[in-house]
Amino acid sequence: MASKLFATKPISNILAEAEGAGEHTLKRALGPVNLITLGIGAIIGAGIFVLTGTAAAQFAGPAIVISYMIAGAGCVFAGLCYAEFASMLPIAGSAYTYGYATMGELVAWIIGWALVLEYAFGAATVAVGWSGFVSSLLEFFGTKLPFNATPSVALTLFGHPFKAQVDIFALSAIVIITIVLVVGVRESANFNSGAVMIKVSVVLVFIGLALAFAFGHWHHMMTNWQPFIPRNRGHFGQFGWSGIMRGAGVVFFAYIGFDAVSTAAQEAKNPQKDMPFGILGSLIVCTVLYIFVAGLLTGIKPYSSLNVPAPVADGAAAIGVRWGVLLIDLGAIAGLASVMLVMLLGQSRVLYTMSCDGLLWKWVGRLHPRFRTPYIISIVVGTFAALLAAFLPITLLGELVSLGTLLAFTIVCLGVWVLRVRQPELHRPFRTPWVPVVPICGMIVSLALMLSLDEPAWIGFGSWLIIGQIIYFTYSRRHSNVQRALAAATKPDVRVGR
Ligand code: ALA
Repeated sequence: MASKLFATKPISNILAEAEGAGEHTLKRALGPVNLITLGIGAIIGAGIFVLTGTAAAQFAGPAIVISYMIAGAGCVFAGLCYAEFASMLPIAGSAYTYGYATMGELVAWIIGWALVLEYAFGAATVAVGWSGFVSSLLEFFGTKLPFNATPSVALTLFGHPFKAQVDIFALSAIVIITIVLVVGVRESANFNSGAVMIKVSVVLVFIGLALAFAFGHWHHMMTNWQPFIPRNRGHFGQFGWSGIMRGAGVVFFAYIGFDAVSTAAQEAKNPQKDMPFGILGSLIVCTVLYIFVAGLLTGIKPYSSLNVPAPVADGAAAIGVRWGVLLIDLGAIAGLASVMLVMLLGQSRVLYTMSCDGLLWKWVGRLHPRFRTPYIISIVVGTFAALLAAFLPITLLGELVSLGTLLAFTIVCLGVWVLRVRQPELHRPFRTPWVPVVPICGMIVSLALMLSLDEPAWIGFGSWLIIGQIIYFTYSRRHSNVQRALAAATKPDVRVGR
């Protein structure tokens, strides 16, 4: 019984599914540029535009640059492991499929379920941030809405009455993006490319203006950068090196999303070559941009003044660019829209793969006859994310997203190592360097960041995993293709509990 729970899905089956063609398969429409923009689309968002200021002011000071380097390094370790898997097993299930091939069905299920936290809850978190930027833009133009965009409703949960604030902007954003996703992956990629172009231009314009300011006001910058690592204030996480680590835990959110590229593997024209390019390329571009923005921002304004809702916009205003607020609002609105798009795209693709494996109901994997997108699950996920965005507080959502993502990272890193030991002969178009050092570093950084998160998030995370186990033991185990194959016959190529 226990061995059945750890039954792995044969790599040969996964590769055969990845190579499938016809109207019941996803459409291979994405080239290398689409994939790199997909990655940047998912990465640059609320993290850089908001959290940089908050984390500098509260935890790290100008050394937030070092926090960005640490979080970026952790993501590069995980990214290298994702790249090996995504080029070897180019299938939409991403970390879920990698877990299935290496550590068995139960672990795969747990990752698939954790990825809902990353993608659906992630899209909901970003939707709430997006709504804030839309309100700020409307305020900038002095527009008064004829209705209340965040009405309250009285609800009762487990006998406790509470007031929920329904965020109409957040809700509408997810509805519009879900429609784009249903219409097609190429349309979604085009929408994403437009949004990425706007947000990267905005970030580059900010960097350009800030550099010009820095050259003219070197003394001003040096004054704000000193002390570079403010002295610890007597508590863990309040400046000093512990503050840098805490800052890294917070700004980790800014990097979330590069792994979403791997969920598009089945829609890539040449996944073996383009997957590592898309994953690592987008991660490196964003890391460089983040370090520049964080460094320049803390030079322009004293770090203690950055704990505000729109710190980068304030930075632009401080160097005399009056239209800074407008510029950053536009960048953030486009940026966050593309984050939501890629996350919802990733979510539907992971659930689609789980349904094809028999672990979720058949309707989850049904494709639209014309658009060839998993339209039913895209709509269900969109509705779920819209409800989360409308009702849950953003801090809890954000920490749940980080926990789900970090669990997936940990298992992917372990998976690369396990598969190298068990099946060293497999063809790997991209090889993670220095195995097992890189996977071990990836696991250590991920686990350390998980442990730095708060108790309420851990309670939510535990409850989420328990719900997942109930679905697994009542439905998935009995309908799983791998379990059925095991029960029907002891086929020689079905490996059990290895
Ligand atoms: N990395 C994404 C953001 O910062 C989730 O919004």
